[in-house]
Parts: sequence; C-alpha cells; structure tokens
Amino acid sequence: MKLGVNIDHVATLRQARGTVYPDPLDAAILCARAGAHGITAHLREDRRHIQDDDIFRLKELQPLPLNLEMANIESIVEIALNVKPAEVCLVPEKRQELTTEGGVDVIAHFDAIKSTVQSLSEAGIEVSLFVDADETTIAACKDTGAPTVELHTGSYCDAEPNDRAIHMEQLIRAADLAHSLGLKVNAGHGINQENLGGIFCVPHLATLNIGHSIICRAVFHGLEISVKEMLVGMLEYEG
Ligand code: PXP
Repeated sequence: MKLGVNIDHVATLRQARGTVYPDPLDAAILCARAGAHGITAHLREDRRHIQDDDIFRLKELQPLPLNLEMANIESIVEIALNVKPAEVCLVPEKRQELTTEGGVDVIAHFDAIKSTVQSLSEAGIEVSLFVDADETTIAACKDTGAPTVELHTGSYCDAEPNDRAIHMEQLIRAADLAHSLGLKVNAGHGINQENLGGIFCVPHLATLNIGHSIICRAVFHGLEISVKEMLVGMLEYEG
C-alpha cells in the first residue's frame, strides 16, 4: 500500500501570514526523502491554501508523482491539462466547507464528470473519483471511464469507535465492488495514527492519501528543536 501525502496545510500556514514560507514544495521534498510515494495537493476554487504556482512547481521541482485534487470546474480542468499531473482526483467543493465534506455525486453529475474524465485521460492523466462508499455510486464511476476511485474514509474516521462498524462494512462492500469492476481503490480523509489500523480492514487498497494528521504531528515533532534553535540564536545577544 502506498502513501500519498497531502501538503495543503503547509500552504495554509503560509497563506495565514502572506509570507513565502513554509513552502509546500519544500514539504514535498521532505516527504520524498522520508519515503512517501506521492504528493497530493488540492487547488481549491477559493485558493485558500495551494496556489496555481504551487501546482506548477510541485509538478516540476520535486521527485514524486503529483495527485492534483480539484473540483470539476472548467478553469481548473484547464490548469490540470496544462500541468499534466500524474493523477487528478475529482472532488466536490463547497465554498463554506472546512474540508471536503463528502464524495462526488457521480450520478447527478454523470455527463460532466464523464466528459472531464475523457479529456484528462486523453492527456495521459490518471483520473480518480473521490466518492462515498456507496455501491450505486461505485458502479457509476466505472461507467465514467475513470480507472480509479478514492473512497471517502471520513465517516469511518470521524465516527465514535463504537459507531465505526457500520461505516467499515460500507467501505468493505464498496472496495470489493470497485475491485470486481476492475477499478483501482484508493482511500483518504481523516486517517491518523489512531484509526490507521482499522483502515487495514478495507480490502484492495492501493494508496492512502493522508494530510491533516501528518502535518499536525509534524508541528509537534518539530516544535522542540525549533524552540532550541531560537534559544541558541538568542545567545548572540550582548546587551
Ligand atoms: N483525499 C481527498 C480527496 C481529500 O479531499 C483530502 C482532504 O483534502 C484528503 C484525502 C486528505 O484528508 P486529511 O487531510 O483528512 O488526511
């Protein structure tokens, strides 16, 4: 099973201060050094974290395959066709949401999704559809021509431990169906060190895309050394 690291929230920190750091490109290079298999970045319509320029730099200047998450919006599809990331994951997007709240409604938007899958695929981009673990939706994914689905694990990960079984059953059924239809099965959203073991019950997983929990842990892994470095810097004071 491969790990794609979503580095959006490095850009969130940068955008919070309007600085040029921390740079998601530097984060991607560190992820590659640590052994990650891919980099995921979500170019949102409101550009709240990742910017257009980040996507171009992440494609060209770091060694891992780039998975561009995006809504099915013409202007962003155009960017994807210019950048040609290894993979595009189509996600739904609402302006007010804190994060991607649900999967794409492939049935309601079937024609538009099928057409985008076709143009991206013709450009050599692997298309993945981020969907809820729902069997009718999975069947529709197959009909769009997309080779991959990413199962939304948020409902499972965010549920109280006692309520997780029902969500896991849905994930297992969806993964089995997707696999039987010849679709590659990825998963993501809300995965952290605590619930990772539970995710292992889902069969056929190719890649986990994980962001928020890794960036959160990185803050604490780096905090002690960062404080020490500042204290060392302050030793220079001679006043
Ligand atoms: N996969 C998709 C399609 C997402 O939209 C996100 C969140 O941007 C993730 C994976 C990563 O989720 P998290 O940040 O909760 O690990």
